[in-house]
Amino acid sequence: MKATFTLLIITVLLCIFTFDSCKKDKAGSGSKSSVYGGTESHNVGEACMRCHNSGGSNQYWWIVAGTVYKPDSTSLNPNSSVYLFSASNGGGTIAAALQVDGKANFYSTNSISFGSGLYPAVKSLSGQLIYMNSSITQGNCNGCHTSSSRIRVN
Ligand code: HEC
Ligand code: HEC
Repeated sequence: MKATFTLLIITVLLCIFTFDSCKKDKAGSGSKSSVYGGTESHNVGEACMRCHNSGGSNQYWWIVAGTVYKPDSTSLNPNSSVYLFSASNGGGTIAAALQVDGKANFYSTNSISFGSGLYPAVKSLSGQLIYMNSSITQGNCNGCHTSSSRIRVN
């Protein structure tokens, strides 16, 4: 009786571990980045990594993702560009350059070394460039830039 119980426990544990490793193999396995004009994305303005991350519902785990708006914070700003600089105000080197898609979202699974912090910037089609003054160590842009503080460029 005791042996049967032990066997049952071992079987259950094995199942859990097997299931878990299968899940890990699938999740995070995809490689994808936004492109100008692309229409694959969705959920404009939402914090993308809520789902596109470990434990989320989609296999693509974004390292950087967000949405770009016009200065009115409501109109979208498709086909603009996002940059991550190693120093403030466009200084240092460009650690990442992202194409904002046709729905105004940007995203990438490419690994980025944030180090002690990278400085985001956004550039519109008309060429206006806006810098974020402070630096970030993770790329869930819409997690901070909610409806009351959008990423905006004219
Ligand atoms: C509520 C969860 C959730 C949020 C928030 C979310 N996504 Fe998704 N995303 C998904 C799921 C699930 C899929 C798989 C396709 C589907 O069911 O729509 C997906 C698919 C995608 C795809 C297509 C990739 C594929 O699976 O072929 C892109 C690109 C994408 N999302 C980008 C984004 C961006 C950018 C944001 C933030 C602006 C975002 N998503 C926010 C859950 C989410
Ligand atoms: C940890 C929270 C946080 C994250 C993550 C974040 N931001 Fe910001 N962002 C802020 C805050 C706070 C400000 C205003 C103060 C400043 O500029 O540092 C700001 C300002 C900005 C501005 C200037 C806004 C304006 O209208 O003057 C831009 C552009 C910007 N962020 C882009 C981005 C991009 C692109 C990302 C993702 C790659 C990002 N931010 C990620 C908090 C964040």
